[in-house]
Amino acid sequence: MSEPAALKIENLHVSVGDIPILKGVNLEMRQGETHALMGPNGSGKSTLAYTLIGHPKYEVTEGSISIDGTDIVELDPCERARLGMFLAFQYPVTIPGVKVADFLRHAISNIRNPDRKEGEDLMPMRDFRKELRDTMDELNIDFEFARRYLNDGFSGGEKKRMEILQLAMLKPRFAFLDETDSGLDSDAVRVVSEGLQKLSGPHMGVMIITHHERLLEYNIPQYTHVMLAGRIVETGDAALAHELHANGYAGVRERHPEAAAEELQAQESTT
Ligand SMILES: Nc1ncnc2c1ncn2[C@@H]1O[C@H](COP(=O)(O)OP(=O)(O)OP(=O)(O)O)[C@@H](O)[C@H]1O
Ligand SMILES: [Mg+2]
Repeated sequence: MSEPAALKIENLHVSVGDIPILKGVNLEMRQGETHALMGPNGSGKSTLAYTLIGHPKYEVTEGSISIDGTDIVELDPCERARLGMFLAFQYPVTIPGVKVADFLRHAISNIRNPDRKEGEDLMPMRDFRKELRDTMDELNIDFEFARRYLNDGFSGGEKKRMEILQLAMLKPRFAFLDETDSGLDSDAVRVVSEGLQKLSGPHMGVMIITHHERLLEYNIPQYTHVMLAGRIVETGDAALAHELHANGYAGVRERHPEAAAEELQAQESTT
């Protein structure tokens, strides 16, 4: 295999509607690595994930995001997906009238054929169905699932099955899983952790954004990052994730009093 690709985030500042949220994030991640991103509510974890995939609401005001030296800040979400970026949303949207299989066929066609124009050149149905069937077999997902409407009435576990199926089909180089949803029931946690165990490997770098200890027990991160007030204030290994689960963020705030003060200030200005 060639050198693993690297995603590099340098001094990233991001505003939402003129309010600065990220204030100088530095992070590096390579294909094949598992990272955990933790931090208290409102510290900026989802903001970082949305910014990385190019959500238009999040404006980069300073700093850079690059893949193997190519700056991606000016690229639209579709172009970023082609370079191997993937985000599973904390709150996935329901798209009425679009079936799981149709959605995946469009997504895969977009990623694999950069010159594709909307509505043209979809991946041939036979090839697509074979790949979908093989992948669903491998993941023990009933094929009937492909005929459901996307996220329409999905249980927590089914939303996660969709997420894992997308990962398996799209094969991103850098996957961000925002799993902070408090509605993540035990079925959903099991689907994600088993799916990740099956899919992770040298081709995929994974960033798991979570407060759920079980996810990280089954997918042990080599790096754990802690975000506070829009910055990554600490990076450690899996032991750091354990410590945060056991003791919460009081220790982090004590170790980083300036960031803790900024956190307090931001909270006061919004209430
Ligand atoms: N689209 C938006 N519009 C307005 N404010 C936003 C938006 N997105 C994020 N923010 C603000 O940015 C800050 C960081 O929010 P973010 O959702 O990134 O935190 P988080 O670390 O993901 O929190 P949680 O653990 O609750 O998921 C918060 O103060 C939030 O109110
Ligand atoms: Mg969040």
